[in-house]
Amino acid sequence: MRVLTVIAHPNRASFNYAILERFEIGLRAAGHEVRRRDLHAPLFDPLLSGDELADLQRGEVAPAVREEQALLEWAEALVFVYPLWWLDRPAVLKGWCDRVFTHGFAFAYDENGVRGLLPHRKGLVLITAGGSEEEMELMGADSASILFPMVGGSLRFCGVEEVTGRVFHAVGSISDEARAELLDEVEEMGEAF
Ligand SMILES: Cc1cc2nc3c(=O)[nH]c(=O)nc-3n(C[C@H](O)[C@H](O)[C@H](O)COP(=O)(O)O)c2cc1C
Repeated sequence: MRVLTVIAHPNRASFNYAILERFEIGLRAAGHEVRRRDLHAPLFDPLLSGDELADLQRGEVAPAVREEQALLEWAEALVFVYPLWWLDRPAVLKGWCDRVFTHGFAFAYDENGVRGLLPHRKGLVLITAGGSEEEMELMGADSASILFPMVGGSLRFCGVEEVTGRVFHAVGSISDEARAELLDEVEEMGEAF
C-alpha cells in the first residue's frame, strides 16, 4: 500500500520521531511504499485566516493546501504520530486538519447529511502522553476520548472507516528498557499494518 505518515513534533530527537521511524521501518519491511509529511519541515502554517475561509466558501483552495491534498491523493492509508498536548493534537496538526480537510475534498453534504470523501483504506493514530493511564482516567480522559478528536472527529468524519489508534502513556517516565520494548512493538505494528 502507499502509506502517508504525518508527524507533528518540533524535535527530531523526540520519542515521537523514534516511534515514527520504527513504524516506517516496519512498513517498508512489509513492502509498503512510504511518504512522510513532517509538519515542521517545511513548517505548515496552521492558521486558517479570514481571507482563506472566505475563499473556501467560494470553492477556492490555497496552493499550499492543494500540495497537502495532493499527498493525501497519493496515499491509500494514513498514519499520524504526535504527542498529546492539552488533551488534543499539537496546533500544527489541528491547523493542518482545519485547512486541508476542506469541504468538497474531504467531506460534502447531501440530502442524507454529511458524507466523507476521503478514499483511504485505513488509518492509524499513534499518540504519546506524559501522564499515566491512571492519571488520565482520573481526569476523565481514557484512551478512547484522547483518540476521538483525530480518529472520530477528523478521519472517520471524512470517510476513513477503518481507523484504529493507540495511546502510549507516561512515555517520559518509563524505563529505557520499557521504551525499547515499546519501539519494538511499534515496528511490529508497522509490519502488520
Ligand atoms: C504544550 C504541551 C502540552 C501537553 N499536554 C499534555 C496533556 O494534556 N496530557 C499529557 O498526558 N501530557 C501532556 N504533555 C506531555 C507530552 O504529551 C509528552 O511530553 C510527550 O508525549 C512526550 O513525547 P516526546 O518525548 O516525543 O515529546 C504536554 C506537553 C506539552 C509540551
